Amino acid sequence: MQRKNQVKGDGFERGLMKWESQAPSNLALIKYMGKTDASINLPSNPSFSYTLKHLTTTVSLEQIDSEKDEWHSAESVTLSASSVARFMSHLERLKVYFGYTGAFLVKSVNNFPQGVGLASSASSFAALTKCAAMALSELTGKPAISIDEQAALSRKGSGSSCRSFYESWAYWEGVQVERVDTPYPELLHQVILINQQEKAVSSSEAHRRVQTSPDFSTRSLRAQSRLTQLNEAIQEQDWPRMYRICFDEFWDMHQLFETCTQPFSYLSPTIKQVLSQLQAFWKQKGDGPLVTMDAGEAIHLLYRPDQKAMMQDIRQGLLGAYHVF
Ligand code: DP6
Repeated sequence: MQRKNQVKGDGFERGLMKWESQAPSNLALIKYMGKTDASINLPSNPSFSYTLKHLTTTVSLEQIDSEKDEWHSAESVTLSASSVARFMSHLERLKVYFGYTGAFLVKSVNNFPQGVGLASSASSFAALTKCAAMALSELTGKPAISIDEQAALSRKGSGSSCRSFYESWAYWEGVQVERVDTPYPELLHQVILINQQEKAVSSSEAHRRVQTSPDFSTRSLRAQSRLTQLNEAIQEQDWPRMYRICFDEFWDMHQLFETCTQPFSYLSPTIKQVLSQLQAFWKQKGDGPLVTMDAGEAIHLLYRPDQKAMMQDIRQGLLGAYHVF
């Protein structure tokens, strides 16, 4: 985190003080899907994620002499009007929390493409929360707030962002988020971007729709049971079992998408083909990457550090025809 005084913004001097923070994205292996209270993003089930330290959002807040906060639209970030409004209303929530009424110019930049299943909302809301917590405690003279408090505030902006405050693994249930130690502190990450269009159904909308699936009433039990099994498998370092649990888990979430009253699907023929190739790879080698998908047409792969050569082989062979990030 950095703080600069008297920064010049894009060629014109208007800033009084400027703050900047960075936060990583995270990848859930047990998914947050469905809410018990959408107004403060309380999840229907516990989730468990690996923090993607290399995929970050940087947010800056520049104090401005204005009635209202302003969003600076960077060329690389094309957010819909509703996404910008949601982001700015989170800043408003943080200002209310600190009792601050001044205005900011808000800038946000990702080091990865947005809206393609790479969970940019997690890193951007976490970075905004971190940055605002720093700026607002300084501007109001109020004490700095702890990481746990920042995560709880960030959750209200976007649920999954609360997990981005903890490395390398995070567990979130209800209002509680915590760091988890595992025998896998470092994993390698690869993502296959099949469709780079902005997703048609936002994850917030997905959380609403899934509740109408006939399978939703038992979803929380399934997620909890997989979480227990995944923890066991991680402790036992049983990587093939971890792979099977993670596969079943994302498939379960995507079945909810397909069976709700306004169904939608990310399991395109190409996605299904790549998934089958990955399953065949596992069958043949008895080893391979963990596979998961969020709400988008992207497949995430996690490898152990000793699988580095396999990761390169898969990229050049099995995934040679695809855009791999
Ligand atoms: C599929 O955190 O983006 O990535 O709380 O409405 O902002 P809101 O939803 P969001 O949901 C993420 C859903 C997911 C699974 C996960 O990350 O756990």
